[in-house]
Amino acid sequence: MIVLKNNTFIERKEATIDMEDRGFQFGDGVYEVIRVYNGEYFLLEDHIKRLQYSLNEIGITYDLEENGLRDDLIELLEANEVEDGGIYLQVSRGIAPRAHPYPSDAQPTLFAYPIHVVKPVAEQGTGVQVILEEDFRWLRCDIKSLNLLGNVMTKQKAKENGAFEAIFYRNEDHVTEGSSTNVFVVKDGTLYTHPADNYILNGITRRYILHVAEETNVPVEETVFSLDFLHEADEVFVASTTAEIVPVVQIENEVIANGKPGDVTKQLLQSFAKHQSLETLPVN
Ligand code: PDD
Repeated sequence: MIVLKNNTFIERKEATIDMEDRGFQFGDGVYEVIRVYNGEYFLLEDHIKRLQYSLNEIGITYDLEENGLRDDLIELLEANEVEDGGIYLQVSRGIAPRAHPYPSDAQPTLFAYPIHVVKPVAEQGTGVQVILEEDFRWLRCDIKSLNLLGNVMTKQKAKENGAFEAIFYRNEDHVTEGSSTNVFVVKDGTLYTHPADNYILNGITRRYILHVAEETNVPVEETVFSLDFLHEADEVFVASTTAEIVPVVQIENEVIANGKPGDVTKQLLQSFAKHQSLETLPVN
């Protein structure tokens, strides 16, 4: 495997980090997971923009355009002959003696490498069960931070319960997102999802889905909704880069609607096959 480290290409065995890298010690960095279909990135531009946003929000000075990230990522795909899969990319604040404040002279550490992505085909067909968990994470979920303990602990709970995902809620009137997905509800033909604010990650897949919904005349409401609303939905689904869309047919012990993936969900899922070479969304 060839790995991109800052602007150089190295072998996997050379891709090591320093024990004082702040990504390792503090989770002081940000990341992206980018999907690759047929040897091409899906929505690469949107991922680069969101990465730049995350970097800016945590005060890491790293200009992705100036650093030629786009070209490096394309070269990385070619070097690894990735056809179907993804790229994991992270940027940490860099190496410095351990102290909480930002160091003045650290150079950011960027790593990117190909990952295997298994499309959840069976789950997309049948739909899945999810659990509900209180959202105990921090209040800057809009930053795609390396700090994923809240997400990791919660996904583990889902796994132990035999569920595909855990859906977070801040209180019973406020459902936020999944532990690694955004959450959508269809009710009376309208598609609902949480607004893009500090309580959720503004998923690239989320934005793609809102775009497709608009194009296919599905009314959209970006609004906060309650646990009751979720339970009474006609359709529920979760979405992410790696999962695309996965219908939710059961929430804990309660079956949603008729217990089968709904029509709007299925239509949106089918759209992925058509748009695999899309580089960017029209509105950002
Ligand atoms: N997770 N919300 C959270 C908390 C996420 O971790 C993710 C993605 C999403 C969906 O974002 P996107 O559509 O841009 O993938 C929403 C990635 C895939 C991960 O950590 O593996």
